[in-house]
Amino acid sequence: MKKSVLITGAGSGIGAATAQEFSRRGYFVFLLGRNRKNLERTAESLTDFQIVSCDLQDPIEIQTTVDQILQHPQGKNLEVLVNNAGIFKTHTTLEGSDELWLDQFKVNLLGPVRLTRALWTHFEKQGKGSILNVSSTLGLKPTANTSAYSASKAALLNWTMALAQEGGPKGIRANSVSPGFVDTPIHAFHSLKGEDKENTLKSLGSLQPLGRIGTPEEIAKAIVFLGSDDSPWTTGANLNVDGGIHLA
Ligand SMILES: NC(=O)c1ccc[n+]([C@@H]2O[C@H](COP(=O)([O-])OP(=O)(O)OC[C@H]3O[C@@H](n4cnc5c(N)ncnc54)[C@H](OP(=O)(O)O)[C@@H]3O)[C@@H](O)[C@H]2O)c1
Repeated sequence: MKKSVLITGAGSGIGAATAQEFSRRGYFVFLLGRNRKNLERTAESLTDFQIVSCDLQDPIEIQTTVDQILQHPQGKNLEVLVNNAGIFKTHTTLEGSDELWLDQFKVNLLGPVRLTRALWTHFEKQGKGSILNVSSTLGLKPTANTSAYSASKAALLNWTMALAQEGGPKGIRANSVSPGFVDTPIHAFHSLKGEDKENTLKSLGSLQPLGRIGTPEEIAKAIVFLGSDDSPWTTGANLNVDGGIHLA
């Protein structure tokens, strides 16, 4: 039977590319998100998959979804959790309401914590599990007007290191990948067309030592490396996949 992976935010961007990469590597893929149409679009290029609708802001939905996954025939082979879903809102500290802060912390931090908690016993019984958290360059090096998002991603990075120590003796690994600028629907510029898009990509690209922004596929390869058995002795690590912007 195939190994299984659960990927959150699998309907678009980095999550969709990660689903394709794990599928190419022979995994059964559980695709999690809210927008079913997007998840179905990702599934079009996969061989073995199951779509699971879940709003990561809702702890009860998370538990019900994990219960469903573990009852699925491929659930017992679930080895990898990719906490990829995220939301990004720009606002100054003064303008950011409690609600804006809480929304970003619920999806970007508490969603991963709750999913991990719900899957912990399963991984423990297996004596094996891998949790891959998608953070951000902004979690290491915040910029003005991204304070809540950056703080949520910094917390995710820090928690990954605590989790690695808790999981190590049980055979459970925890690592993170921190993408820089990647052209996905999370950015308003993603939907620009023609010259406007070209000019935006050129000016954003010049911020990176490598001279361009990244693709979802480039992040997916790093996620699969750290999430899969390709890195059996790596835990508590963070991989910056960002064209070098964390140095800029
Ligand atoms: N693109 C970048 O430049 C960049 C840079 C650094 C880090 N990242 C991180 O990379 C990850 C993937 O983002 P992306 O760039 O691929 O953007 P994206 O295409 O907008 O993907 C975000 C995904 O998160 C899901 N999501 C949002 N809220 C959710 C909720 N309440 N419950 C369940 N799923 C939810 C969305 O799915 P539904 O709408 O179906 O729910 C969507 O598929 C995020 O964690 C983001 O912070 C991205």
